[in-house]
Amino acid sequence: MARKKVSIIGAGHVGAHSALWIGLKEIADVVLVDIVEGMPAGKALDIMEASPVAGFDACIAGTNDYADIAGSDLVVITAGLARKPGMSRSDLIDKNSAILKGVVAEVVRYAPDSIIIVVTNPLDVMVHTAWKLSGFPPERVIGMAGALDSSRLRAFIAMELGVSVEDVQAMVIGGHADEMVPLGRYSTVAGIPLPQLLSAERIDALMERTKKAGGEIVALLKTGSAYYAPSAAVAEMAEAILKDKKRVIPCAVYCKDRYGLDGVFVGVPAKLGSSGVEEIIEIELDSRERADFDRSVAAIRELVAGLGL
Ligand code: APR
Repeated sequence: MARKKVSIIGAGHVGAHSALWIGLKEIADVVLVDIVEGMPAGKALDIMEASPVAGFDACIAGTNDYADIAGSDLVVITAGLARKPGMSRSDLIDKNSAILKGVVAEVVRYAPDSIIIVVTNPLDVMVHTAWKLSGFPPERVIGMAGALDSSRLRAFIAMELGVSVEDVQAMVIGGHADEMVPLGRYSTVAGIPLPQLLSAERIDALMERTKKAGGEIVALLKTGSAYYAPSAAVAEMAEAILKDKKRVIPCAVYCKDRYGLDGVFVGVPAKLGSSGVEEIIEIELDSRERADFDRSVAAIRELVAGLGL
């Protein structure tokens, strides 16, 4: 059986590391695309030269020509600017929506049957933009955010309790911004609900850290934003889709008549398989969680309205 094909637009930090994870896990062949001449080909070759040592078989190629994305099963869009210290994700909106416009036109032209995963920030607005501009059905346009935010919360829980990350599950919904909604109640260690293991104060502290986790890294790096965890989260979603695993992963999906919403991309748990978003799972929210979720949705709506799409 021929390998699946993933194209990654933007071969910067997140894009190149996504290619590495996807190769390492033998999920698919990868085409890295960027506007910087030669750079994607150089990074792809470097990864190929690591493959004998790491022991994986996958073809990673780099190009400046969008024609090479033809036949992609999945297209991951990371093209755009990353945050610098002092910036919020929404400060990137004008520049990144202009970049996305050009990128999506090429995806529609060369890979019209693909599933798109958007990574570029501000995530919820960019995924909405990609959906509108592509004309793709909503189940084929997905934003990567909840997989990352949940992984961060899982890491913090594991560090706090001194337990294996393998046993920790966590759920973060809402937008990919400081208004995201980490759900302590839906987080578990080997099936044990977090409130049985930690005080309400400690859970709140971990949830607060999760909301600001991207900013914590931006402040430390000073020259850009996180990429190891974001790219690992991209690979997790790619694997779920391309191997038709039906994984339930929080991600930014189009919610219409779900969660009482009338058409907005926001992070909620979704079943991912070969058709893209195969089901949106509605979980019960208490009044505080619902209020936080509504606030997050309102913030997304305001940014989307400003785009005038
Ligand atoms: N077409 C293709 N690639 C582009 C385009 C374009 N029109 N415009 C910019 N790029 C490329 C840049 O050349 C760069 O290589 O996008 C890449 C972005 O990489 P980085 O600057 O390293 O940024 P990165 O850390 O990967 O973040 C990318 O993901 O997490 C988000 O907030 C983050 O929006 C940012 C995006």
